[in-house]
Amino acid sequence: MKKPMREFVRNFLINNVTKNDIVIDATIGNGNDTLLLSKLASFVYGFDIQKLALKNTEKLLLENNRDNYRLIHDSFINIFNYINDFKGVVFNLGYLPKGDKEITTLAFDTIATLKKLLTKLKKGMFIVITCYPGHDEGLKETILIKEFIKTLSLDFNIIKKENKTNPSAPLVIIIEKKA
Ligand SMILES: C[S@@+](CC[C@H](N)C(=O)[O-])C[C@H]1O[C@@H](n2cnc3c(N)ncnc32)[C@H](O)[C@@H]1O
Repeated sequence: MKKPMREFVRNFLINNVTKNDIVIDATIGNGNDTLLLSKLASFVYGFDIQKLALKNTEKLLLENNRDNYRLIHDSFINIFNYINDFKGVVFNLGYLPKGDKEITTLAFDTIATLKKLLTKLKKGMFIVITCYPGHDEGLKETILIKEFIKTLSLDFNIIKKENKTNPSAPLVIIIEKKA
């Protein structure tokens, strides 16, 4: 079955990440985004709080002969402990598919990290966020992120893609720095 939000993110990344770019996958999970980013960018840093996610992602990357990555077992809150210079950051929020649904991204941490990242964003840089309002924490996180982006200045361009007929379907928010 086609996943329109995944396709939307994929196309955005294909059109915006080049071989000169360093990018961050803030939530590697099973590594699908990390693999795509490693093919598009010069280097990808990947974060996850679960060892299982690092194991799954490492396996996928090695199977695909990728070597331009570093996987970090830490929360995305600590991104700046590892890297300061990047073109974009990809968040695929929620829990690890087929994993422990109790281990999920938390609204408070996500908003705090977005705030920090936005202070570093320069012209042409971006943050891609896929939200999952279909579970309790995901709904809270989605509402807070939507409220938060309303507070951003006109220096940021916001692209939102959501399913208008199904409010619990995943949605994508992209923040780009214009000037
Ligand atoms: C929806 S999955 C990501 C799927 C992944 N992008 C893929 O393509 O397979 C969300 C991941 O976020 C991770 N996560 C939750 N809180 C986190 C945090 N504070 N920092 C980094 N990763 C986190 C979870 O462990 C889970 O693996």
